[in-house]
Amino acid sequence: MLPLSEFTHKLESRQARIGIVGMGYVGLPLALLFSGERFRVTGFDIAADKVATLNAGNSYIVRILPEAIREAQKAGFRATADYSEIDAMDAVIICVPTPLDEHHEPDLSFVTSTVKAIAPHLREGQLIVLESTTYPGTTEEVVTPLLDGGNARGLKVARGAEQTGVQLAFSPEREDPGNDTVDRRDIPKVVGGSSAAATEMAAALYGAIFRRVVRVSSPAVAEMTKLLENIYRCVNIALVNELKQLCIRMGIDIHEVIDAAKTKPFGFQAFYPGPGLGGHCIPIDPFYLSWKAREFDFRTRFIELAGEVNMAMPYFVLDQLAAALNERGKTFKGSKLLVLGVAYKRDIDDLRESPSLTIIELLRKRGAEVAYNDPYFPTVGHGRKYDLNMTSAPLDHLGQYDAVLIVTDHSSYDYARIVDQAQLVIDTRNATRGIHSPNIVRC
Ligand SMILES: NC(=O)c1ccc[n+]([C@@H]2O[C@H](COP(=O)([O-])OP(=O)(O)OC[C@H]3O[C@@H](n4cnc5c(N)ncnc54)[C@H](O)[C@@H]3O)[C@@H](O)[C@H]2O)c1
Repeated sequence: MLPLSEFTHKLESRQARIGIVGMGYVGLPLALLFSGERFRVTGFDIAADKVATLNAGNSYIVRILPEAIREAQKAGFRATADYSEIDAMDAVIICVPTPLDEHHEPDLSFVTSTVKAIAPHLREGQLIVLESTTYPGTTEEVVTPLLDGGNARGLKVARGAEQTGVQLAFSPEREDPGNDTVDRRDIPKVVGGSSAAATEMAAALYGAIFRRVVRVSSPAVAEMTKLLENIYRCVNIALVNELKQLCIRMGIDIHEVIDAAKTKPFGFQAFYPGPGLGGHCIPIDPFYLSWKAREFDFRTRFIELAGEVNMAMPYFVLDQLAAALNERGKTFKGSKLLVLGVAYKRDIDDLRESPSLTIIELLRKRGAEVAYNDPYFPTVGHGRKYDLNMTSAPLDHLGQYDAVLIVTDHSSYDYARIVDQAQLVIDTRNATRGIHSPNIVRC
């Protein structure tokens, strides 16, 4: 039997075993989707505490309830840190981080260490899919040589029309955390394999959980597709962030403009300004492409310009706050400030690259006494780029602060009450729309 027909048969009969490496914001929900379709899923992670939490039937991601983990366990889900179990999997999906290093360059160390760790355990006919966002060429230039050279059985990655060997594909993750308007199964899944068989196997695998699979001709096309999507967002957010600053000078409400513009039924998609970019995708992924472009003597000027505008936004918020404090005869030094929200966007428990962290650090450096509140983060310690060690302050006695800054517009906040009690509100998200008060500065 050819690998594809055998693989498809195993999928249809639910005998196929699925391994997902990296039980984070991407890997864990994906594991639950497969478990929901009665697949036996094994989650691999190097973080012992995550493995233990999952095997105890608990969750460490707020929007994933422990009941969902326990339901998945009934379908055979379990977590492990033992890579020797890779051998028993029919498909292995890699969802590990792809951050930037301190020089703002791609850090593929999580991907390469994962591939090196699984390579010795691979066997003929297995499908490996990389989902981590990365630059075009990673699957074939970085992952393939590691798989080819790392297997004691001498297995190689199948190319082109080859049927035998390890099948390798790239399929970008398109999750939008906190977005409940689209069912995850309705988000089409793009797949591109190193061989025709790999593309078909990946299409069959994802076809079991997603309603539509889009096949592309190579892993590089699939890798570039993800980057185009995120660069499109990054550039358009930069555009509205720049226009917001102009509108403020001109006395025009940018949100009113966007609301009017989006009534156009074609050729316009609404993007919204804010205090700066956050999350693991939009602030980071475009620079994967900028880096790769240099190899081709090419400068990605849109990406660089968008990065410049977006990175300056926390400083713009500080300027607006300084002006409002100044009007009240106050300075940063000695001011008591409350930042609302440290998550990088509304109603999620993820603070990676959050503009709040930058704003808090900048304010502290300028001598302000800063507190924060976030229902999703009772404490904030230190990460790769911040060292705050703070505890979420209660939302009472708002009058004690010289200003309250709305940096993340969580829907649990009562904005009318906040405006009513605070001396000054700096609103970076238009969260106070419809509320009239001379104490609001929208920026
Ligand atoms: N979070 C999102 O919304 C989102 C959306 C689209 C794409 N992505 C991309 O998906 C990838 C994963 O992102 P994430 O948000 O899930 O990251 P995450 O940090 O939440 O999770 C990654 C997990 O991988 C584990 N890990 C790291 N190295 C490992 C190794 N060698 N073996 C096993 N496990 C390992 C970590 O312990 C962690 O649990 C990234 O490339 C990211 O750019 C993320």
